[in-house]
Amino acid sequence: MSELSVNHLLGIKYLNEDDIQLIFETADHFKEVINRSIKKVPSLRDITIANVFFENSTRTKLSFELAEKRLSADVINFSASQSSVKKGETLIDTVNNILSMKVDMVVMRHPNPGAGIFLSKNVKASIINAGDGAHEHPTQALLDSFSIREKFGDVAGKNVVIVGDILHSRVALSNIFALRLQGANIKVCGPKTLLPKHIETLGVEVETDLRKALNWCDVANMLRIQNERLDISYFPTTREYTQQFGVNKMLLDSLDKEIVIMHPGPINRGVEITSDVADSKQSIILNQVENGVAIRMAVIYLLASKIK
Ligand code: CP
Repeated sequence: MSELSVNHLLGIKYLNEDDIQLIFETADHFKEVINRSIKKVPSLRDITIANVFFENSTRTKLSFELAEKRLSADVINFSASQSSVKKGETLIDTVNNILSMKVDMVVMRHPNPGAGIFLSKNVKASIINAGDGAHEHPTQALLDSFSIREKFGDVAGKNVVIVGDILHSRVALSNIFALRLQGANIKVCGPKTLLPKHIETLGVEVETDLRKALNWCDVANMLRIQNERLDISYFPTTREYTQQFGVNKMLLDSLDKEIVIMHPGPINRGVEITSDVADSKQSIILNQVENGVAIRMAVIYLLASKIK
């Protein structure tokens, strides 16, 4: 297969296994490019991309911008907090105004689930979802799986546990879709209040005992508590959460085998993982960030080739 089955990247839910393999093979090439002394290719000199962020971001925003620049695209950045959204402008008006400046692709982060889907039906541009509320964060899941593939050679058959606030996590949902497509075994672990009802219907098992989950897995993807999305208390105190669901070095060293630690960031050091775990040789957290640029270059390149 030489092209994606989709014209937008709105969620992993809309991709198939071949799409993921094509993105990974393309990212393999771009990872080699970004490790050269000249890290840039002229592929997208005729493409203009708007990064439209209605929510805070460090990794995703910088990674997309770098990926776009490495592909030689023209890039404009929009931050809602400094824009006319503050004066009441709607999402469609905002994006249509940006598109009138001859923009081909929009990378959007938005607090509302489905915002990217809505946009793709209402504007003439290729849309990439950079995180929509508690719904999906497809490029994060792609870079997570790509990092597992890089570490183990394959994702199929690997045991992956996703630990933490599954209920409010777009990273968890996109990871579940991506890992399932690639044949990994998946467990979720966290306080019962932070596990969605009927999550087993997505093809994952629930394990509320963290030690058991860690002894089962090859990879533990540690998620942050999404405090910005918590309207009520889901556990008594942060200290008790950490005691039951946090990973420290003593716990890691006491397991039956050496597991890989992942985290999408931002980390709350000392809550979901301690610093000595985040910075340990078992952690691939910074590899994930590096791989994010190659994955985003691949996604942008493949979607842009469908515009031309
Ligand atoms: N992983 C992730 O989405 O991080 P940011 O919120 O910093 O973009």
